[in-house]
Amino acid sequence: MSLEITPCDATLGAVVRGVSLKRLDDSTFAAIESAWNEYAILIFPKQCLSHEEHRAFTRRFGSLELSIRRNRPKTTGQLSNVQPDGTVAPPESLQAQMLLGNTFWHSDSSYKRIGAKASILAAHIVPNQGGETEWADMRAAYDVLDNSMKAYLDGKIAVHSYEFSHAPFGGMKVISADELSHLKPVEHPIIRTHPVTGRKNLFVGRHASHIMGEDLEESRKLLADLTTEGAQPPRLYKHQWTPGDLVMWDNRCVLHRGHQWPDDQPRTMVRTTVAGDGMDAEWLLETA
Ligand code: OGA
Ligand code: MN
Repeated sequence: MSLEITPCDATLGAVVRGVSLKRLDDSTFAAIESAWNEYAILIFPKQCLSHEEHRAFTRRFGSLELSIRRNRPKTTGQLSNVQPDGTVAPPESLQAQMLLGNTFWHSDSSYKRIGAKASILAAHIVPNQGGETEWADMRAAYDVLDNSMKAYLDGKIAVHSYEFSHAPFGGMKVISADELSHLKPVEHPIIRTHPVTGRKNLFVGRHASHIMGEDLEESRKLLADLTTEGAQPPRLYKHQWTPGDLVMWDNRCVLHRGHQWPDDQPRTMVRTTVAGDGMDAEWLLETA
């Protein structure tokens, strides 16, 4: 097998073939890591990893991050509308509502003090239409801002909040008061520099509530507009899943969102998360 990396027809993304993530030697891993830094999202068709293999691949990039449910650690998070009894959760259920929140552009865990580095998502059960996932290149979105907007945003800080983004989707019902006390609003610069590539990017998305020191409603609208305008072609890649596919992305410079699918069809995805550098130990499952 030889590694084959084919860039997508967009400013981000590449499809990687000719490798099994079940068996990854160090030089192939290094080539994948460097392609990931360049393309920000990598698509690995038909990997069909077990949960353990999925976790093992994830660990090569750093420590696994715990979900919002700190006291109920799950190392391999399921995003699924299938209920424990095997039936599909009805659209009005809390389970389905929480998934609906993912259909808005976001960067995973940006409501934490240090957001996620990588997310690694694999398809297990997919609907026969819809249910795609889409990514937006916020490096390229920064590049096309006009100079006055770049200057305006320089040094500005956005407040990111779990409660702000999740409350409309039942997010306050799924966590305890103790868990919420560890998810207080946090501050992130709107323009960030990627630690590896040095490229600037626009760090916005659904968890970003408002800009510090500015009018709440006006700055909220500006953040929403920056997200919408940033997430436009040619800065988009949308993936139509086949069971077994695995995609990994860099939350430090891309946004993503899911697309809806027919309510009565099951969809089960499995996601692991690599904690951002410098993340507090309380959020780490283990040290890499
Ligand atoms: C995620 C996510 C969207 C989807 O896994 O973090 O937002 O399409 N997923 O399932
Ligand atoms: Mn997500």
